[in-house]
Amino acid sequence: MGILRQLLFGKYLLVTNTVSCGLMMAAGDVIQQRSEHWKKHCSDKKYFPSSVIAASPEDEKVTAISSTSAYGHDYMRTRNMTVVGLVQGPFHHCFYTILDKVLPGRNAKSVLKKTFLDQSIASPTCLGIFFVGLGILESRKIKEICEELKLKFGDTWKVDCCFWPPAQCINFIFVPLHYRVLYTNVMTMVYDIFLSYMKYDAHFE
Ligand SMILES: *[C@@H]1O[C@H](CO)[C@@H](O)[C@H](O)[C@H]1NC(C)=O
Repeated sequence: MGILRQLLFGKYLLVTNTVSCGLMMAAGDVIQQRSEHWKKHCSDKKYFPSSVIAASPEDEKVTAISSTSAYGHDYMRTRNMTVVGLVQGPFHHCFYTILDKVLPGRNAKSVLKKTFLDQSIASPTCLGIFFVGLGILESRKIKEICEELKLKFGDTWKVDCCFWPPAQCINFIFVPLHYRVLYTNVMTMVYDIFLSYMKYDAHFE
């Protein structure tokens, strides 16, 4: 009964968690899009100054255009990312509410068990929501979604497993109680930059 009551009546927290999941996803994608633009249009200027590449005045014009090309934000992409973030939110919230009931306390043993369950159940589920959700938004076929999962899921989960346990460990040991929500949100945003990269920018052989 206790779990049910908390799931139903911890509404305020549910809303807060869901909104912040969506916002962090949006922020992560905005940062990743900026960095993709920078990588494409600004970083190669350093290595290939236009005076070296341009052989004729016409070439020079082309180089100048491409290297100063204006930043156009893909709002649809950020919107789609926000949507999957908002879908992950309630799952996350319910998972941790149940986890805290099943494994109360902060002793080493229960923290270790929680971390294990987090990485083996919550992470794959959230990654599934992420890739499948975006695939559905792009109206892809089931076969294409499965292919993308096969390509990206394993590597993404591995990074997840290297990122979150240490991040949570630092959270428990070093971060003062009243900064933990902020800390978790910042780490989520950093991780979401990586998700955005895996979805839209990573190249696979
Ligand atoms: C976002 O979703 C819309 C439909 O909801 C789709 O048409 C579009 O291709 C998606 N954009 C990206 C970048 O995934």
